[in-house]
Amino acid sequence: MESKRNSFTGKLGFVLAAAGSAVGLGNIWRFPYLAAKYGGGMFLLVYIILSLTFGFSLMVAEIAIGRKTRLSAIGAYEKLDRRFGFIGIMASIVPAIILPYYSVIGGWVTKYIAGFVTGEMEAMASADYFGGYIGEAVEPIVWFGIFLAITAVVVMLGVEKGIEKVSKIMMPVLIGLILFIVIYTLCTLEGAWDGVVYYLKPDFSKFSIMTVVAAMGQLFYSMSLAMGIMITFGSYMKKDISISKSAHQIELFDTGIAILAGLMIIPAVFAFSGGDESALGQGPGLMFVTLPQIFETMPGGAVLGAIFFIMVFFAALTSAISLMETVVSIIKDKTGLGRIPCCLIVIGICIALGLPSSLGYSIWSEVKILGMQLLDFFDFASNSVLMPLVALLTCFFVGFVLKPKAIMDEVELSERFKQKGLFSVMIRYIAPICLVAILASSILGAFGVISI
Ligand code: PFF
Repeated sequence: MESKRNSFTGKLGFVLAAAGSAVGLGNIWRFPYLAAKYGGGMFLLVYIILSLTFGFSLMVAEIAIGRKTRLSAIGAYEKLDRRFGFIGIMASIVPAIILPYYSVIGGWVTKYIAGFVTGEMEAMASADYFGGYIGEAVEPIVWFGIFLAITAVVVMLGVEKGIEKVSKIMMPVLIGLILFIVIYTLCTLEGAWDGVVYYLKPDFSKFSIMTVVAAMGQLFYSMSLAMGIMITFGSYMKKDISISKSAHQIELFDTGIAILAGLMIIPAVFAFSGGDESALGQGPGLMFVTLPQIFETMPGGAVLGAIFFIMVFFAALTSAISLMETVVSIIKDKTGLGRIPCCLIVIGICIALGLPSSLGYSIWSEVKILGMQLLDFFDFASNSVLMPLVALLTCFFVGFVLKPKAIMDEVELSERFKQKGLFSVMIRYIAPICLVAILASSILGAFGVISI
């Protein structure tokens, strides 16, 4: 087994591949709307603290489990202890829940490229456009289908490498554009600086347990944790590459882009709403409403808007490919079927869960699960329930069954692990306590016992 597994060539190869999977809609679409909704600076502060402590520890644990066993999630947990193979199975369900609704949002992005290219920018910049668009039954489904089909074709043909190369070129362009939009907004839009204050200055009165729940869910989502992905990446990592440095670099890169994306969107929301804070609570539509408004005020905005959404499309596509690839390989390992039939099964799952997610904004808007729109429900079920549960089980397993030393030994094959103490205390005590609190509050929140 060991000798057959390919390895990433250099140190940079590993970090870039993992960062490519980590950076996606989570950073550009999901982070800003959560930060806007859950207290701006307070959310940011909680997110950064969690990322440096908990996120780091969990990422090190997952990469080390993968590298130690040279297997992906299901096999890895089974190999370490037969009784705990179920954690790998639970982790593997997460990408299957995320991919369908990820593709719905990928479809929204694709539609926005078309909108900028065909000269609809002015219409798109009106505050009601996005709501009207997702309120239609058919069109969003067509774009969802297009996004899903592109993802599936890449996975079926096995040409991910080509797409990854393209997206490596796109990524710096995307970062450059985000920076440009940030500077443009702050220099030209009146009222934008109030948004910067809201976003960067923690206001302790805005703290609630939901800030922590949302930040933790976002951390898993954005860094591709608690879903077996980092285990798979670790399984390809060479023994002489530093796990803790790689984890820090992925974390820094991923968080950096998310923070910038927030800075691109939140101040603009302040500027366009004239400082009305209720505009911050829009949820999933925030980026789609705000960005066209910014582009409309720019000279050459239509062209820049189109380029921007093309970059976001590639970031989303690489993430969707790695999500689909993960689900396909799990089904392949479990059933022994070929790549194409497995892809078809995954497409079936995506249609079965993606269609309701899309229709939940139009003809099925009355259908609610636990009071949530269907897309929100899938997002909640994966991010606020299943991932914290997988993370909790992983902490328990690593902390008390496998023992932190096993992970530390793996890390120390290539370096002196400086954060040993932090790692051990985090995995054994602090993280489990936080995770239990988080799970309890998401569940109580979903059942309306406490307010979310
Ligand atoms: N981390 C990605 C994002 O922030 O958009 C989402 C994701 C991509 C999760 C790929 C898992 C994955 F395999």
